[in-house]
This record gives sequence, structure tokens and C-alpha cells, in this order.
Amino acid sequence: LPFASFDELATGEAAREALERLRAATNQSHGAMERHCLRTRQIAAELASRRGWTVDDEVLTVAAILHDIGLYPTASRGGVYTADGAELARELLASHGWPSERIERCADAIERHHELRSQLRHGEEVEALRNADLVDLSAGWLSYGLDRRWLRTLNTAVPRRGLAAELAIQIAHALRERPLTMLQIFRRP
Ligand SMILES: [Fe+2]
Repeated sequence: LPFASFDELATGEAAREALERLRAATNQSHGAMERHCLRTRQIAAELASRRGWTVDDEVLTVAAILHDIGLYPTASRGGVYTADGAELARELLASHGWPSERIERCADAIERHHELRSQLRHGEEVEALRNADLVDLSAGWLSYGLDRRWLRTLNTAVPRRGLAAELAIQIAHALRERPLTMLQIFRRP
């Protein structure tokens, strides 16, 4: 494969556990959500390298794995799903002894991935993940200058099949269970 899988990328203990949590929350391995997270991780790293940013690869990997986990019932705390995912990451990373600055950068990347403005002041990983999620959700319609052939190769290696249905199910569920929090995602201070 031209792209590393999460089994290859998630070498650290924290990333390993994050991957296990995602697989438990989604109830599958290499499912549509995991593949969305993996493409987002690959796109974020590619954007970062094109921009000459030096990112912390493990921060990026863990943030990509956990960025949407708050949508799932077992990971949700009933709050804004991006904040719930960030809180889960803080606890998980603290239990692995990460320093607080690194934990916060990872949590910020998760919590701020739906922000509409640049998040660069919070860290290059934070902005790279936000942009990468938009690239993948827009199916490359928004590309931030990435090579279209590179994106097509990624989509072939890590297929998009099932993502729209998976997101529709989880977002509909979250809208039913906590409608006001879903609106707050776009209304953070
Ligand atoms: Fe996402």
C-alpha cells in the first residue's frame, strides 16, 4: 500500500489505546469511520509537509483517531461532541503520562476541528487536522492545493465507501439525543 495504515502509524501506547477505543466505539475494525480518520491523518500530514510545518506525528495520529469519537454513544458525555472527544483524549493521554502542553495540543485539535476560522495559533497540528477533515468530508472538492491524483490514490487505498451513511446515522442520533449541543459546535466563543 502507498499509505501506512493505523496499525503501522499507531505505534505508541497512547495511539494504540486510542485506536482500540475507536474500534470499540464504532464496533468495527477498519470501518468507514476509521478509514475517514486515517485519510484525515494522511491528508493532515501531507498539508503540513507542503506548508513546511513540523508536526508532532503522534499528536496528529491520536487527534485524527479520536476527532469524531464523541459522536458515538459509548464515548459521548452528553455534551458538544467535539468537546466530549477532547475530554476523552485528555484523560487517555494523561494516563499515558504525556506532558500537559502536548495533551492540550491534541485536545485542541479534536475540540477545534469544526471551527470556521484558522486555528493556527493553537498549533500546526490543530490547523492541519481542521483543514484535512474538510478535504475528506468534501471528497476533495476543497483541496487546499493538494494534488488531485494524490487524493484519488488515497481514496483508492483507503476507500470512502460507507462514510456518508455512517455520518448520517451518527449525526441523526446525536441530533435526537442532544440537539442543542449540535448547534453549539458552530457557536463556540
Ligand atoms: Fe471528521
